[in-house]
Amino acid sequence: MPLEFAARTRRIPVYPLAAGYDLGADVAMLASNESCFAPHPSVVEAAARVLGGVNRYPDPSYAPLRRALADRYGISPGRIALGNGSCDILLAAGEALLEPGAEVVYAWPAFSVYPHLAAASGARAIEVPLDDEDRHDLDAIATEITVATRLVMICNPNNPTSTALGLDEIEAFLRRVPSHVCVILDEAYCEFALTLGDTYASLELLRKFPNLVLLRTFSKVYGLAGMRVGYALCGAEDFRVAVDQVRQPFYLNSAAQAAAVEALRLQDDVERRVTETIAGRIELMDGARELGLWVAESDANFIWLHLPEDIEEADVVSGLKGRGVLVRAGASLGRDGSLRVTVGTPAENERFVDALGACLASPTASGTKRAR
Ligand SMILES: Cc1ncc(COP(=O)(O)O)c(C=O)c1O
Repeated sequence: MPLEFAARTRRIPVYPLAAGYDLGADVAMLASNESCFAPHPSVVEAAARVLGGVNRYPDPSYAPLRRALADRYGISPGRIALGNGSCDILLAAGEALLEPGAEVVYAWPAFSVYPHLAAASGARAIEVPLDDEDRHDLDAIATEITVATRLVMICNPNNPTSTALGLDEIEAFLRRVPSHVCVILDEAYCEFALTLGDTYASLELLRKFPNLVLLRTFSKVYGLAGMRVGYALCGAEDFRVAVDQVRQPFYLNSAAQAAAVEALRLQDDVERRVTETIAGRIELMDGARELGLWVAESDANFIWLHLPEDIEEADVVSGLKGRGVLVRAGASLGRDGSLRVTVGTPAENERFVDALGACLASPTASGTKRAR
C-alpha cells in the first residue's frame, strides 16, 4: 500500500525545476535567473573561514548579518527577517498568515512559488491576469481584495515577465489596501531595475505602510544562489516575529551567514555586476528584437519574449538546448509561447541570440503549428 499523504500535500504544485545541471561545462545556463558572475574571492574566503567551527550550531540570532542589513538600510534589526533563501520567508509567510477561508491575491504569471502558499494552507488563491504589456494590473488586483484577504503579493520586477512598476503606482495601490492585510513586495531583482532608481527608494514606503514587507535575496545580484540567503525588510516587527515562530530555529547555516555579510560589504562589486548585467540585458533584448520578436521592457537580470504564433515553444526550447543554451519555457511559467532568458556572459548572450536565430529559421524548430 502506498503512503497516505495529507490532502494539502496532494494540492501543492510541483515547482518547475531547471534541467541541465548535469550537462557539463559547455552549456549556457540561462534558465534560472542566477548571476553569471562567481562570488568575489573574499566572499568565498569568508564562508570557508567558518567551516572549521561547524561542530557548533549557527548563531541563532544571526546578529552580524542582521546588524549589517540594519546598518545598510537604516531600520531596526527586529524588523529584518532572514531566511534560507527568500523562498523560505515566503513559505513561512503563507504558513503564518493563511488558513482555510482566507484569500491570497497575486498577479499571474508571477513567481512560480506563489501558488504553493494557498495550496499548502488551504486558503483561496486569487490570480489576477497581467495587463497587455505583461505588467501587474494594480487596479484589478485592488478590486480583488475582500474581507477574506490576508496577503497580497506584488512581484516587482516581475518574474517571469521582467517588467517593473514605478513606486508612485505602488504607493497609490498600497493606499487602497486595508492596513490589516499584509502586502509582500517581492524585490528579488530590484538592484537591476532602472525604473526603481535605487535599492533604498522603496524603503520610504515602509515608513508609511506598517503592513508592507520588502522581500529580497542574496541569490541574484550578490551571486549567492547556492548559499540560500534571503531577507525581508518589514514595516513592523510583527511579521518578523510570526515568520520566525513557524520555522525551525536554525534556518540559515554558518557559511551562508558569513558569505552574505561579506558580500554586503562589497558594494563596488555589486555595482559592477549591475552595470555588466544591464549591458548584457540590452544585448539580449536588441538581439531578440532584431529577430522580429516582441520583448518586454526588462528591469531584471533576464528578458521575456513572445514567440511568433506559428512557432512551437517546445521546439525552440529543445532546439536551443541542442545548441547548448538552456532557457525557461513559458509553458512551465504560466504562459505558453514565451521564453524567459537569463542574462549571461557576453559570449553566452551572443550564443543565445545566434542559436535563437537558427531555431526560428530551422524547419525542425518551427515545423508544427501551435493549437491555441
Ligand atoms: C521573484 C522571486 N522571488 C523570490 C525568489 C526566491 O529566491 P531565493 O529563494 O533564492 O532567495 C525568486 C527566485 O528565482 C524570484 O524570482
